[in-house]
Amino acid sequence: MTKIDLTDSLEKIPVKIFPDPQSGSAFVAREIAALIRQKEAAGKKTVIGLATGSSPKTLYAELVRMHKEEGLSFKNVITFNLDQYYPMDKDALQSYHYFMRKNLFEHTDIDPANYHLPDGMIPKDKVKEHCLNYEKQIEEAGGLDLQILGIGVNGHIGFNEPGSGIHSKTRLISLDNSTRIANAYEFGHMSQVPRMAITMGINTILKSKKIILMAWGQTKAPVIKKAVEEDDTEDIPASLLQNHDDCTFVIDETGAAELTRLKVPGSPANVIGPRA
Ligand code: GLP
Repeated sequence: MTKIDLTDSLEKIPVKIFPDPQSGSAFVAREIAALIRQKEAAGKKTVIGLATGSSPKTLYAELVRMHKEEGLSFKNVITFNLDQYYPMDKDALQSYHYFMRKNLFEHTDIDPANYHLPDGMIPKDKVKEHCLNYEKQIEEAGGLDLQILGIGVNGHIGFNEPGSGIHSKTRLISLDNSTRIANAYEFGHMSQVPRMAITMGINTILKSKKIILMAWGQTKAPVIKKAVEEDDTEDIPASLLQNHDDCTFVIDETGAAELTRLKVPGSPANVIGPRA
């Protein structure tokens, strides 16, 4: 049986546990709204890194509600999405451009000139230059104030698959089979899932001033435990977030199921760990 050190929390990244994705997303939406309003009051724009996949859908729905009902404006917001399949036409139903337009952008007052996603149709010989330019655009915007992340069942963040190094930057990457299987639902069949993607690197993500990773559901529970409790390793890219000093995991109770504080009665984190 594993011995539990009763003197310290095992969690190397702060974890906030919510009863369900809606309440977790509402928390993240409030953080985003506060940041936008605070920067706006100082006459500045807010630069946000955005994620796709199923996890941020409830967040975007809440931000849209806040825009419509509470006057939250995106006029002073600049966004950079984490990733895009390659090759992928930006108008294809499975493209992250389409996802972002339908789930967030079209329903807010964001200026289309202010949102950015990697170009899934850039010719192969221009990919390197495109990726360098993506990094440059983020820097010229003042750097990311906040990066929103999901997590793959294999621990990927963005499309930084296992093996992605802490110094990696925006680049073209081959997708793991496990990722192609997990994302097959977006395409109908795995054979249609592209084999490659352009993704921000781990270094690009770690340079953000603040990071929030969201994860819901039992399928994510084992990788959440590995990412926050075990040593950081390139095998679980999300564990590299342990090297950031303002990163929080926002998860629901099923996603937290494998954490020691919930699994082992009487463990200190079970008593004093952060809870929403
Ligand atoms: C996708 C995206 C990631 C996302 C992850 C989890 O492939 N590229 O940015 O965080 O996999 O997806 P989901 O939220 O659907 O579980």
